[in-house]
Amino acid sequence: RLAFATRSKSVATMAANQEFTGNLKREVEKLFDASLRLTVPDGTSVETEVAASLPGKPGDYQCNNAMGLWSVIKGKGTQFRGPPAVGQAISKNLPVSEMVETCSVAGPGFVNLVLSSKWMAKSIEKMLIDGIDTWAPTLPVKRAVVDFSSPNIAKEMHVGHLRSTIIGDTLARMLEYSKVEVLRRNHVGDWGTQFGMLIEYLFEKFPDTESVTETAIGDLQTFYKASKSKFDSDSDFKEKAQKAVVRLQGGDPIYRNAWAKICEISRTEFAKVYQRLKVELEEKGESFYNPYIADVIGKLDSKGLIEESEGARVIFLEGFNIPLMVVKSDGGFNYASTDLTALWYRLNEEKAEWIVYVTDVGQQQHFNMFFKAARKAGWLPDSDKTYPRVDHVGFGLVLGVDGKRFRTRSSDVVRLVDLLDEAKTRSKTALIERGKDKEWTPEELDQTAEAVGYGAVKYADLKNNRLTNYTFNFDQMLSDKGNTAVYLLYAHARICSIIRKSGKDIDELKKTEKLALDHPEERALGLHLLRFAETVEEACSNLLPNVLCHYLYDLSERYTSFYSIHQVIGSPEEASRLLLCEATAVVMRKCFHLLGITPVYKI
Ligand code: ARG
Repeated sequence: RLAFATRSKSVATMAANQEFTGNLKREVEKLFDASLRLTVPDGTSVETEVAASLPGKPGDYQCNNAMGLWSVIKGKGTQFRGPPAVGQAISKNLPVSEMVETCSVAGPGFVNLVLSSKWMAKSIEKMLIDGIDTWAPTLPVKRAVVDFSSPNIAKEMHVGHLRSTIIGDTLARMLEYSKVEVLRRNHVGDWGTQFGMLIEYLFEKFPDTESVTETAIGDLQTFYKASKSKFDSDSDFKEKAQKAVVRLQGGDPIYRNAWAKICEISRTEFAKVYQRLKVELEEKGESFYNPYIADVIGKLDSKGLIEESEGARVIFLEGFNIPLMVVKSDGGFNYASTDLTALWYRLNEEKAEWIVYVTDVGQQQHFNMFFKAARKAGWLPDSDKTYPRVDHVGFGLVLGVDGKRFRTRSSDVVRLVDLLDEAKTRSKTALIERGKDKEWTPEELDQTAEAVGYGAVKYADLKNNRLTNYTFNFDQMLSDKGNTAVYLLYAHARICSIIRKSGKDIDELKKTEKLALDHPEERALGLHLLRFAETVEEACSNLLPNVLCHYLYDLSERYTSFYSIHQVIGSPEEASRLLLCEATAVVMRKCFHLLGITPVYKI
């Protein structure tokens, strides 16, 4: 936010001719910035405080500077007689702008601004013609890394990885929409001591390792479990497995090949999930950073950061009661050494300005510690919202309907693919119950079932504040009532069907007809549409997808209030209202897109 010291009249004139950049709140801030510059005595530093007004309050935006400003200037020979008078001055000094209908002062100096409905309508018309990408937020970075999903080889992808995949994909989409180049990184756990036993087991089961295929090996998790139980019960095998680790790390080609085989089989399994969820990412697993680790640890060492502790090499960090281990006592590297190296690589080789890590909150300490080590090394600025910036995006547990950790009946971790299958089957059944199998082609039925089923799973996760645990409940997420993807997707499809039924060519209407926001419900809907960009920007900067979900749900509620009172087809306002329907559908689709949900057009 601006803090300024000198007044400048030219700013006031500039603001009068401002072009709408998409971020409504910012546009209003610009107006008040200009007014405050004229209002405050020279040399006063002030931060413009503008907030969207609560529903039912007068005005659309409120400037709350009068009271604070008064306490700064009172008793210093000011001509003002109290906060209301400061408010009056702020209101009077507001630049002339076609954005503003009225500006007035209430109570102890709240300055309420009412936007011009005409200007609002014009801005929406413009978006309909130029496209919603013209409303994209602008962020202060060019390139970002989103490190998400990141399952571990040979272990099953579980619901925790599902959360990371869904949340990370949405964050990446929001950044991409904001014109940031996003490196979507899958930091797969493809290195570590478990590979010793996996490889030894593979050699025993399949002496001809070259020809092993995914089908031969079957379920990798079962394979992992079997090798683990052999490792625990058979000391001969254990010894071989430990030797295998040494050989693998030493680069023995036979062990390397076996390792690559296991990774490849896991990879094909992961890919199936990503394909279903329509999530794209590029694998740069832990092993990718191996060649750089020794060097990076050396850099930290030369800065005097590393100390010896109980045979291991560690970094002591202020505020933590345990040190961060970067070299194990056997000389091997660990999760933290890899993450430090990956961070170094991303900052220096990939030139990322913002790096976002999406994992469960259980790993928070790990991230806080290696972030702190990187700050100590001077790789990152000291304050955490300054760029280059790193963020750990933590999320809570997934619970079952019984309130306990989500498990299957046999108490195993829940397999992701099974969840997705069930979501699809259930939504298909619901569509068939509504007779859609008779109306649609089998492909349409299948595609809709997928869009609704997978959309429901994603939305149920994203709509909660990510830090809270959430309950996985199929009945709830697939309900067509309440704040669910099903309700929202249906709402969108209904808008599309109104436009179709009108028989009008909407692209033609955009060019020839005007939009009017004369009635309160039309205006409220229009205002909400204009708040889209500022919402995405907020969701993006605070890394909170639920903010966007909340917006989307509100949008559909406002649309319902409008539609339940006002006739569209056949009314004198038909053309204008069809444009308003179209604008709502466009913004809804952009929200779906950012949330990774496929919209449906018929229901
Ligand atoms: N593979 C890890 C896990 O499943 C997550 C990795 C997250 N990313 C990172 N750079 N540490 O818990």
